[in-house]
Amino acid sequence: MIIKSKKEIPASEITDPLIFKERRNIIKAMLATMAAGAVGISPALADDNNSAWANLPKGDFSADLLTPTPAESVKNYTNYYEFALNKKDSAKLAQNLRTDPWSVEISGEVENPGNYYLEDILRQQTLQEHVYRFRCVEGWSMVVPWVGFSLGHLLKTVKPLSTARFVKFTSVYQPEIMPRQRNNAMLEWPYVEGLRIDEAMHPLAILAVGMYGDILPKQNGAPLRLVVPWKYGFKSIKAIVKIELLRKPPLTSWSQFAPSEYGFYSNVNPAVAHPRWSQRSERQLGSSFFTPRRKTELFNGYGEQVASLYSDMNLRHFF
Ligand code: MTE
Repeated sequence: MIIKSKKEIPASEITDPLIFKERRNIIKAMLATMAAGAVGISPALADDNNSAWANLPKGDFSADLLTPTPAESVKNYTNYYEFALNKKDSAKLAQNLRTDPWSVEISGEVENPGNYYLEDILRQQTLQEHVYRFRCVEGWSMVVPWVGFSLGHLLKTVKPLSTARFVKFTSVYQPEIMPRQRNNAMLEWPYVEGLRIDEAMHPLAILAVGMYGDILPKQNGAPLRLVVPWKYGFKSIKAIVKIELLRKPPLTSWSQFAPSEYGFYSNVNPAVAHPRWSQRSERQLGSSFFTPRRKTELFNGYGEQVASLYSDMNLRHFF
């Protein structure tokens, strides 16, 4: 068994509610154990020590040469439209989000659909640190050391059927806490995103549960978010509660809201301008006023790894 669906788990084995409180500990213990393995010290020595986490095993394509953006910049400049349009307000209001208990429904074209406790998912996955560039469609970028696991590995555990061609992700719906869901502001809620199945299976695509060696802050998508570093940031959906494998492409929130501005693919591409602004360069979060803008790269610099996924597509038309 990789992970069990709720209905397959005998009542005696179902995660005790108290254990939900322990998610931080599960993640920290996994990180500490791995870090200890990586640097050859005992897990006991590594317990709450961020410096040990600096030696986490790296994901396949983590670029050691990238310098992470200061954590404070990443935590205080967030896009979370369920809470607010304003980046500072969204970071503040997101603290109200309820993330315990948390389960993820995985359904659709799979052999083993089910509702899985996040803790049970985590126990079956290998956490790694992935230092990725992240480019928002608004023209800013950052470098984040995410802590997460392979989306493809998770999908394989539920055995996708040959008919599964797309993956739909849905964010949590908590209108009592999320003012813009309550007021039906802007997007259709809950927030929905999607990938083609081969994109979802690509080793660069991860589900993150942490960043900077700690658990994910609420404003950055806790407890579980997608990170697809070669696509514009809005594809990296936060607070995921549902993953569905589908035969047809899902209608995603932003392409439903403004189809001429936000496509299904939304691969980073400096040659295709947003209808209202250029995508040729980006402001790097945390950099000084005098730092020149960075030149945006096709696929956000991950072309070597992902360009083959799109070899039969005209990248100017499939945006
Ligand atoms: N996911 C949800 N549920 N709601 C959102 O508003 N914003 C998206 C994406 N995921 C968003 C979301 C956008 S536009 C971006 S750029 C990134 O999250 C921002 O991630 P960050 O706030 O961690 O920098």
